[in-house]
Amino acid sequence: MTPSALPLGDPAPSDGLLPAQAADGAAERGFGLYVHIPFCAVRCGYCDFNTYTARELGGGASQDEYGGTAQQEVAFAARALRGSGVPDRQLGTVFFGGGTPTLLPARDLADILGAAVAEWGLAPGAEVTTEANPDSVTPESLRLLADAGFTRVSFGMQSAVPHVLKVLDRTHNPARVPDAVRWARDAGLNVSVDLIYGTPGESMADWRRSVEEALSYEPDHISAYALIVEDGTRLARQIRRGEVPEVDDDDHADKYQLADELMSAAGLHWYEVSNWARTSADECRHNLAYWRSDDWWGIGPGAHSHVGGVRWWNVKHPAAYAARLQSGQSPAAGRETLDADTRYLEDVMLRARLAEGLPASALHASGRQAVAGLIADGLVEPAAAFAGTLRLTLRGRLLADAVVRRLLPD
Ligand SMILES: C[S@@+](CC[C@H](N)C(=O)[O-])C[C@H]1O[C@@H](n2cnc3c(N)ncnc32)[C@H](O)[C@@H]1O
Ligand code: SF4
Repeated sequence: MTPSALPLGDPAPSDGLLPAQAADGAAERGFGLYVHIPFCAVRCGYCDFNTYTARELGGGASQDEYGGTAQQEVAFAARALRGSGVPDRQLGTVFFGGGTPTLLPARDLADILGAAVAEWGLAPGAEVTTEANPDSVTPESLRLLADAGFTRVSFGMQSAVPHVLKVLDRTHNPARVPDAVRWARDAGLNVSVDLIYGTPGESMADWRRSVEEALSYEPDHISAYALIVEDGTRLARQIRRGEVPEVDDDDHADKYQLADELMSAAGLHWYEVSNWARTSADECRHNLAYWRSDDWWGIGPGAHSHVGGVRWWNVKHPAAYAARLQSGQSPAAGRETLDADTRYLEDVMLRARLAEGLPASALHASGRQAVAGLIADGLVEPAAAFAGTLRLTLRGRLLADAVVRRLLPD
């Protein structure tokens, strides 16, 4: 949710008030909170997220003060939404992401959550997740989070293979991951692990080992992402200089298929192209809310928000972010009101990737005309398509971007 480059957009008002359309139909939409924690112990060479090490930050935005600053934005958000006529809604999902949220003391995360719950309340059965690096949790910190109302933790495992972790610059000891998963489960938390495939130098046997190792911890959920080589990262420079090999799309496809096979055999089902869950109750409802274009407020530097087709994003630097809130001003750097065409494009792009599928009735005529060709090419399931829902086949998932392009107008 907080990629490093921000869009341009229109200026955002300093009082944070939203245009009238944001309130339209809000009572019928879900509401969630994203909390960005922009700190990492070290920066991984492939990562382009808006995050800072202590050395990069310097003065003006210390980790110690961040919890208080985030709570200021929670209070600001509640005032701005009420002032804009958006009815109060309980939080259905809360997601702490990063960066490395668990670099902050668990007490700070609990206090930010507490401030949000005091403003909006939690809906019954709400999902409250934190991302975590396996080496930044202890049995005690996980218990404290569970006691504070967290229900789920998502560990960045990435790989079980030391030479792959080394190319990714990951500092954690892979032997720590099963301990962290067990501690989380003992604390009563639902557990997800993140994997990355296609790292330069990763063999098929390496990837099989990572997936099998992750499955042996019996997590409730696994995300597996193809490594993206982001411009401006150390990894991109290393590839350009020929120090590490290029990543290869065919290798990505083979690894995706292997992951899907192993996860299905272990009883996990895909519900979004890169995400598998043990039961439907284990699917990440916060991410589903993004993909279904619900409302959420994003707290933190660089965080994005979306309410009723109005989208905005905060200033990127933690010091600028803190300064805005201290002077009572909105931390937003810009915003845009999505027009019908943009909402349509985004809806098709995101919902086509979900196993629940995209209703053909939601498509414009040009998209509906593409459906027969997608069935003929084995990209969407024929029976579901005849019943009015576009649901990707395995081949369709491998070529999801191409499917989306065929559904959208030129
Ligand atoms: C931004 S991290 C935050 C959580 C935590 N700091 C960590 O690294 O585990 C969330 C996830 O994004 C994924 N990710 C980050 N950069 C990526 C990239 N360039 N390509 C693919 N996945 C990436 C990783 O799987 C990571 O677990
Ligand atoms: S720990 Fe996570 S957020 Fe931090 S630099 Fe590495 S991948 Fe990015």
